[in-house]
Amino acid sequence: MKIAIGCDHGGLEHKNAIAEHLKERGFEVCDFGIYEQVSVDYPEIALKVANSVASGENELGILVCGTGIGMSLAANKVKGIRAAAVSEHFSAKYTRLHNNSNILCLGGRVIGVGTALELADLFVDTEFEGGRHQRRVDMITEIEK
Ligand code: RB5
Repeated sequence: MKIAIGCDHGGLEHKNAIAEHLKERGFEVCDFGIYEQVSVDYPEIALKVANSVASGENELGILVCGTGIGMSLAANKVKGIRAAAVSEHFSAKYTRLHNNSNILCLGGRVIGVGTALELADLFVDTEFEGGRHQRRVDMITEIEK
């Protein structure tokens, strides 16, 4: 599976750790930066990752900023993106199972690196359940149109 990843200055350590971890697990990781600790505007990175997921170039995305919120707000403006800002295990799993979320947004100032790795694993390992949830996801897509 191909995964797009990106961060701003609030999430560099977490992003690098997640990218490394997922590569070790055999995933193909496409890293949209940042690559060093410089201040950037998170919407720029969110747009790159969101476009790559919306186009199908990458199946899922992971974005890290200070809270995970700015990244999710920006990514959700791209058609076809369902980005979820998450900081605990239950939501990381259920946003795949029920919402078919395709981008996970994490807060580098909210959770530690260890938790971030566990949430990333849950997100990429969980399949959408479909069924009645497909109808609800379709309703979200209708709103988008
Ligand atoms: C950057 O200081 C911070 O605002 C950003 O990382 C993020 O938390 C925005 O939602």
